[in-house]
Amino acid sequence: MNKKSAHKKYSLRNLLGSACAVAMLLALPVQLLAGEATPPGQIPEKITINVQTSCPQIADLDQDKKEVKEFSHKLHAEKYLLGKSAFAAHPYTDAFTCAACHTGAESPEAITGADKCERLTAAIEKEGGPKKYKEMMHAVCQNCHKNMQKAGESKSGPAKCNECHSK
Ligand code: HEC
Ligand code: HEC
Ligand code: HEC
Repeated sequence: MNKKSAHKKYSLRNLLGSACAVAMLLALPVQLLAGEATPPGQIPEKITINVQTSCPQIADLDQDKKEVKEFSHKLHAEKYLLGKSAFAAHPYTDAFTCAACHTGAESPEAITGADKCERLTAAIEKEGGPKKYKEMMHAVCQNCHKNMQKAGESKSGPAKCNECHSK
C-alpha cells in the first residue's frame, strides 16, 4: 500500500466519522422531545387500555375500576375501521383512521412522535376533563360497535360490558 492511498483511506474514515457525529447530533433533540414515543410508522399491535396505570400523573381521574386487556389496536387501525367512518363518534378517513380514536391528532407522526401521557392529557382536556374520561372512551369505542349492530352489520364489535372489560 503506498502512502497516498493510505492517506485517502484515512480521510474517508474521518469523513464517515463526522457524518455519523452530525447524524447523532441531529437525532438527539428529536429523541429528547419525544419522551416515551413510538418509532414513526410503527403502530402498536395490542394495547392494554388503562389510563390510571399507564399515566398515573394525570390528576383527578376516577378510581381505577375497569380496563380493556389486549385491545387489537393495529387490526382496528388497519382493517376494522376501513369504510366504517359513518358509525364512529369522530369522523375519519380510510387514509387516516387514527383520528377515530386519537382526538385532535392531525397525522400518524403527531401520535407516534408525542409523549403518550402528554398527548392523552390534551385529548382528555379537549373532551371535558378527567371526570369525562369514561364517557370519552365509551363514545370512541362503544358507539361504533353499537351503531354497527343497529345497522345490522355482520361483523360489528362488542357492545356488552364484559366483552370489553374482563376486569
Ligand atoms: C367497546 C368496548 C367497551 C364496552 C362495550 C364498554 N366499555 Fe367501559 N371502557 C372502555 C374503555 C376503552 C375504557 C377506558 C379504560 C381505561 O383506560 O382504564 C372504559 C372505561 C370504563 C370505566 C372507567 C374505568 C376506569 O378505570 O377509569 C368504567 C367504570 C366502565 N368502562 C364501565 C363499563 C360498563 C359498566 C359497560 C357496560 C354498560 C362498559 N364499560 C362497556 C371500553 C368499553
Ligand atoms: C380504534 C381506536 C384506535 C385507532 C383507530 C388508533 N388508535 Fe392508537 N391507541 C388507541 C388507544 C385507546 C390507545 C391507548 C391510549 C393512548 O395512548 O391514547 C392508543 C395508543 C397509541 C399509541 C401509544 C402506544 C402505547 O403503547 O400505548 C400509539 C403510538 C398509537 N396509538 C398510534 C396510533 C396510530 C399511528 C394510529 C393510526 C394509524 C392509531 N394509533 C389508531 C386507540 C386507537
Ligand atoms: C369505527 C368503528 C370502531 C371503533 C371506533 C372501534 N371499534 Fe372495536 N371493532 C370494530 C369492528 C368492525 C370490529 C369487528 C371486526 C371483525 O370481527 O372483523 C371490532 C371488534 C372489537 C373487539 C372484538 C375482538 C377483536 O379485537 O377482534 C373488541 C374487544 C373491540 N373492538 C374493542 C374496541 C375498543 C376498546 C375500541 C376503542 C378504543 C374500539 N373497539 C373502537 C369497529 C370499531
